[in-house]
Amino acid sequence: KSLADESPPRSSSDLVSTLPRRGGWAKPLVLYRNYWLNPERLKHIIPVKERFKPHRDDIILATYPKCGTTWLKALAFTVTTRGRHALAAGHPLLTGRHPQEVVAHLEVPTPAGDLAGIDKMPSPRLLATHLPLSLLPPAVAASGCRVVYLCRQPKDAFVSWWYFANQMHKGPSPIKFDEALSMFCEGFSPFGPFWEHYLEYWKERLARPEQVLFLRYEEIASDPVEVVRTLAGFFAVPFTQEEERRGVPEEVVRLCSFDMLSGLEHNQAGDVARGDSIVVGKSMFFRKGKVGDWENHMSKEMAKKLDDVIEDKFKGSGLVF
Ligand code: A3P
Repeated sequence: KSLADESPPRSSSDLVSTLPRRGGWAKPLVLYRNYWLNPERLKHIIPVKERFKPHRDDIILATYPKCGTTWLKALAFTVTTRGRHALAAGHPLLTGRHPQEVVAHLEVPTPAGDLAGIDKMPSPRLLATHLPLSLLPPAVAASGCRVVYLCRQPKDAFVSWWYFANQMHKGPSPIKFDEALSMFCEGFSPFGPFWEHYLEYWKERLARPEQVLFLRYEEIASDPVEVVRTLAGFFAVPFTQEEERRGVPEEVVRLCSFDMLSGLEHNQAGDVARGDSIVVGKSMFFRKGKVGDWENHMSKEMAKKLDDVIEDKFKGSGLVF
């Protein structure tokens, strides 16, 4: 049978069944447009490119998973809603809402809505995604909407992934650390290759410096107050002198800190509310929250193996880890 005889896949499930598939992580992944993705999630990913209509005043928080999405969502939500939600005892993040739930993901249907729900959100919309830029509609760049990209030292991102994947994993034996490391180094990880993900947004940052803010987990960890000020300026809601005098940026940092959020009862039990069959426990988004935890997990050889990949893949890009 020639290729011309093949009729195009009729639905996203037909398409998924034609894609290269590989196991090793918590669930088998399929290769779609150069990225390894969860096939269950893919049916919500494909429509994003066609149906998501970005607005000029949208803010999109884009992250490679395990790079601090939960933290960035909490910070961005707190900064942008501080006129409505005082940073006090009744704040939504302190009274029942998980940071993952306060900013809608483009590719994750939630009880609060899917793309249709996102269409109806009032502007300016604060949205999140794990999708690489190439799986978002070109209108994201053309519309000039603002993007905050957050990445992380890949060795720490990998360690965080390994823990997370093992919690999601229902198999008889855990995913072995060294095997997971080899897969990660090959570019085979959920939403990977990680370097392609990072580089797509890095190039966009170079092309549209006014509209793309490129952050690293380590940078937030080392000077969170300054990053909160940068975020507020980038979102066009800079702190007033009066707010600075009252220590509001410091309050935002305190409210969104790992110790504060991970210690709240409502973040310790139950699952993040989602409209699909991927169930993730609320506590799984809080593990250690430290920079450099890879040193407690990797031998010198393991670290070198990933360092070599990092050096090779980011060479000449200006992005250094
Ligand atoms: P570790 O596994 O290294 O602890 P994501 O939110 O993208 O899934 O990333 C999860 C990582 O961010 C985990 O890293 C988690 O502990 C850390 N994290 C979650 N909330 C945080 C916060 N408020 N401050 C700092 N780190 C946080």
